[in-house]
Amino acid sequence: MSDFFGKYLHNLSWASEMKEKLDRKMRFCVAEARKADFIPYTTENGKFKPNFINWWTNGFWPAMMWQMFRMTGDSLYREEAVRTEKMLDEALRNFKKLDHDMGFLWLIQSGVHYQLEKNEDSYDRVFFAANMLAGRFNPNGFIRAWNDWDPSMDRAGWAIVDCMMNLPLLYWATEMTGDPRYRLIAMTHADTTMKYFVRPDGSCNHIVIFDPETGEFLDNPGGQGFVSGSSWSRGQSWALYGFVLSFLHTGKKEYLETAKKVANYFISQCADDWLPRCDFRQPAEPVLRDNVAGNVAACGLMELARALPEEEGAGYARAAIRILTAQEADAADWTEKVPAIFTKCTSAYHDLSGRHITMNYGDYFFTEAVGKLLGEELLFWYPNREENGNGGKKE
Ligand code: GLY
Repeated sequence: MSDFFGKYLHNLSWASEMKEKLDRKMRFCVAEARKADFIPYTTENGKFKPNFINWWTNGFWPAMMWQMFRMTGDSLYREEAVRTEKMLDEALRNFKKLDHDMGFLWLIQSGVHYQLEKNEDSYDRVFFAANMLAGRFNPNGFIRAWNDWDPSMDRAGWAIVDCMMNLPLLYWATEMTGDPRYRLIAMTHADTTMKYFVRPDGSCNHIVIFDPETGEFLDNPGGQGFVSGSSWSRGQSWALYGFVLSFLHTGKKEYLETAKKVANYFISQCADDWLPRCDFRQPAEPVLRDNVAGNVAACGLMELARALPEEEGAGYARAAIRILTAQEADAADWTEKVPAIFTKCTSAYHDLSGRHITMNYGDYFFTEAVGKLLGEELLFWYPNREENGNGGKKE
């Protein structure tokens, strides 16, 4: 049990129970994944649903395997992580189809593989990914989020709040090479996010469209949330955790203050039952949840608690545990009827077929949180930090 989080858990055995349940369930999921020729993302009729190799969530499966390996030491999980890491090389070859999600795809698995085993191929993958992400920077102050998937779209000026979670890849590249360009790009983007995405009450926009030539603000559509000006809970959780991570990598106090502001807002919106809705400003009916938002926010709240003095951080640690325990009781499926755990994940408010489905990153963030509770997590978003050994520059 983590010395830090143990004092906030009412039921001390809960985290160990979760670890046992995760281990049982993940053995079944790995056996299912090995029957497939794709990397798991979601499920349909009790099976993994086919998924294409460049899909942005494909790093979460190997990252989950590394988390399980850290918690159990079982080489089954390491082998599955390495198997799927290699599969992802096809996505690197198809680099024109990659959007801004390079940190989600490579830092939390190849970055971890390199940290644990000094595997040079893994280093090359992460470093290539960092350069790809840096190449998306618009000198007007933002990282371009998405490509133009069809010729009628022009997304050169689109930035999204989710990108805060990809910035650790750029910090990593500076930490490993000593070249400040990557960190400077990341901090410029984080500063733009503070200015144009985070609202005075701590809620956030999902998307902001800038004029790509001048950087002028043009619009803030609702994106995956209910409507423009609403509050997509997963976007709030990306901002919360993303600003904590930017603080940990840079020490810039405004990032910590921004994370607190978003965290206070997030908690105020779900403290009635600790089951975050898909959009905090959605209509009362249907009651649409998003387990991913809850699990991401819980991880962010835990790191926020650790970054603050104890008297200030305690409330955030307790809120994280309330979210994790409430969501687990409400929506976790530990049976072998489906190769996934959380059943109330929602891809986007208006995606009618993506409501209350399974999504592998909901499970990933829950696993990360359990690892934190047990003191067995490496902080995959900062694998090279000093505490993990060999911090800083590449050997
Ligand atoms: N980054 C897209 C999502 O959270 O669904």
